[in-house]
Amino acid sequence: MIMQTQHLNMAAVDNHSAELLVILVPAGQTGFPSQAYPPSLETLIEHYKKMGDWHSESKYLLCINPPEFKALRILLVNTNLDIVKADAKRISNVVSDVLEQLNQAKADIVMPPSLPGGELLIQALFHASYKFSDYKTKTSRREEISVALLVSDDSLDESLDYARALHNGMSRTRDLANMPGNLCTPGYFAECALALDEQFATISTDVLDEAQLTELGMGAYLAVGRGSVHPGCMPVIRYVGAEPEEPAIWVIGKGVTFDSGGITLKKPPGMQSMIYDMCGGASVIGLMAAVAELKLPVNVTGVIATAENMPDGDAFRPGDILTTMSGQTVEIISTDAEGRLVLCDAITYAKQHQPALIIDVATLTGAQIVSLGSHASGLMGNSPQLNQALQQAGDESGDRAWTMPVWPDYQDALDSPFADMRNAGSQSPGMITAGCYLARFAGNTPWAHLDIAGTSFQYGTGNSATGRPLPLLLQFLRNYSNLSAPQWSINTDACGFLP
Ligand code: BES
Ligand code: MN
Ligand code: ZN
Repeated sequence: MIMQTQHLNMAAVDNHSAELLVILVPAGQTGFPSQAYPPSLETLIEHYKKMGDWHSESKYLLCINPPEFKALRILLVNTNLDIVKADAKRISNVVSDVLEQLNQAKADIVMPPSLPGGELLIQALFHASYKFSDYKTKTSRREEISVALLVSDDSLDESLDYARALHNGMSRTRDLANMPGNLCTPGYFAECALALDEQFATISTDVLDEAQLTELGMGAYLAVGRGSVHPGCMPVIRYVGAEPEEPAIWVIGKGVTFDSGGITLKKPPGMQSMIYDMCGGASVIGLMAAVAELKLPVNVTGVIATAENMPDGDAFRPGDILTTMSGQTVEIISTDAEGRLVLCDAITYAKQHQPALIIDVATLTGAQIVSLGSHASGLMGNSPQLNQALQQAGDESGDRAWTMPVWPDYQDALDSPFADMRNAGSQSPGMITAGCYLARFAGNTPWAHLDIAGTSFQYGTGNSATGRPLPLLLQFLRNYSNLSAPQWSINTDACGFLP
């Protein structure tokens, strides 16, 4: 979608030529109270009120050839004065539905000055315009939608740049996340990571191959991909937007390109959804692109913890004991608890590079879906301030996360008679157990974990990656770049970190 701003004196809105002019009108009022809309708008609305077509319960009204307006059609949308996330979504859906119905590709939207929630509305319009170019050989191509935001000053410019970068990043994430396992392999992730290096002067990418990962001692990471014919790798993507010596924020994404469960094979119904088990990795690709497009003054390093989890004669098995890069040993209870195995070594790798903090994003547990559904990602971490900053970024961006406890009490579920720990609990709260496992590798480095199993894609529907948690992550980085000296204290009592 192409979205641009166009300056317009609100009092002359009736003189504006357009195929479709969208005007937001709060129930029972003609316009936004602070607005100098022309009397013709008031007359028009009064006319439809008298006819009973426009009333407080109306959702929208399409007026064809409105008298005294140059626009060919006016779409009145009933909305609150303060546009919250739900309104933004509803308004953008009405606009895109009406465009589709009219077989039109152009809308001009009047944006009243200092409209609360204007930024959310712009983001929602972008979001509604996403179309996955799928793998059907017969496609019906529609013209690209073009939206003009009619503004009276430049106050929305920054919001528009931000929304565009977020949308471009999310589209990249969604396109990648929607790809099936035969096309999106660890090697394909490496290509995407190298493409970012090509596209942005501020990004440089290294792809660690299996030999380098072996050299580093990543025994858990490598075990996951052993049953797959696709060679493993670990792309590391560096964006430098601040002084090069400033510590970077490391964002690690789980990129399991297909999770069959391995020897602990999953049951067939729904197994095809496990092409989405790389949504975390896809988020890292999209995030790096958005950060580079916005030229955010921070350093960010993205890591894709990628592998394919398949059963095979050479696959790792339940009962195996693996030595992680940290030196800690893990008894495998389930080869289906594989995400934490790639993540724990990636976290150790990040920790050795003096990060400012580490965030991992992963479709880690079915238990996250049971606990929070698709409304909020599960947030766990070892620093109360970091948890709070992430939860706040989620609230601000409408991409919510909810903090779950990882108290030491929960750590017992990971006791193993043979190794330092096991990779899965039994009868334990699965999302928290996974968080507790990762906490043992983060140690005393500020770290947070987002379980996005229920938020990053919609279960049961095709091509359904949502692009979450990009809004949250980008908002966090935006807030972070405005902080002078962020302090993230570690609370070992609250996070279950065992020295
Ligand atoms: N990728 C799955 C988690 C998942 C499930 C993501 C459904 C999205 C939708 C993960 O690797 C997994 O299999 N987790 C197990 C862990 C268990 C074996 C401890 C789970 O949640 O059942
Ligand atoms: Mn699994
Ligand atoms: Zn998985």
